[in-house]
Amino acid sequence: MTAALEISHVSKIYGSGDNRVVAVDDVSLTLAAGEVVLIEGPSGSGKTTLLSMMGCIMRPTLGEVRLAGELVRQEEGDALATVRLRHIGFMFQAFNLFPALNAEENVELVLRLKGYSRATRRPEARRLLELVGLGARCGHYPEQLSGGEKQRVAFARALAGDPPLLLADEPTANLDSQRGKEVLALVRELAISSGKAVVIVSHDPKAEVFAHRVVAMEDGKLRP
Ligand SMILES: Nc1ncnc2c1ncn2[C@@H]1O[C@H](COP(=O)(O)OP(=O)(O)O)[C@@H](O)[C@H]1O
Ligand SMILES: [Mg+2]
Repeated sequence: MTAALEISHVSKIYGSGDNRVVAVDDVSLTLAAGEVVLIEGPSGSGKTTLLSMMGCIMRPTLGEVRLAGELVRQEEGDALATVRLRHIGFMFQAFNLFPALNAEENVELVLRLKGYSRATRRPEARRLLELVGLGARCGHYPEQLSGGEKQRVAFARALAGDPPLLLADEPTANLDSQRGKEVLALVRELAISSGKAVVIVSHDPKAEVFAHRVVAMEDGKLRP
């Protein structure tokens, strides 16, 4: 079966000379559809840099990224945005919701970027918010939502357009332990039921039980 995500010998070097930092050092990893992988590691070990290259937000200095078997052509700037829209949903530590938009509008915005018509956006945004247990919060603005609720809106937004790959950078870091577990359980459940590949970066050991596979990162390398 074609891997949902395959990165081969990927490295990222920031700066040069005295400022040279090898943030990610020759990392290879393959994810199948429906698989949840947790990347653990101390601060500064290169987790966010690695996730950014998986998500085609950042170009690797060396190495290749394949999404659904297709090589990502790193040289084509605008095409990368299209690849992101088609393949990838993102979740972040700070939720990154638009404060001036309510829950439903936050999800609709992404649906619009993905080409959903005006008529289909609203019902689809509501369906996704119901899926994450927030059907009663569609009209609420981020400031009216708890941390756990905000992250669930962000999850609904990441699911918009049904991307095959979800990338989450420390999604529970701003949540209490119970809320963090709820979000991770939901991510795992939906990943499995809808066959999405998921990469979660976290240094919370409680996240381990929600992953099929745990990999440790240290000094830019994945520890076997
Ligand atoms: N834009 C950047 N320019 C230079 N160095 C960076 C940049 N981003 C990250 N780094 C460095 O790369 C290393 C890995 O950072 P990062 O990927 O953010 O790690 P983590 O997410 O595990 O904390 C760190 O040493 C960090 O200081
Ligand atoms: Mg980080």
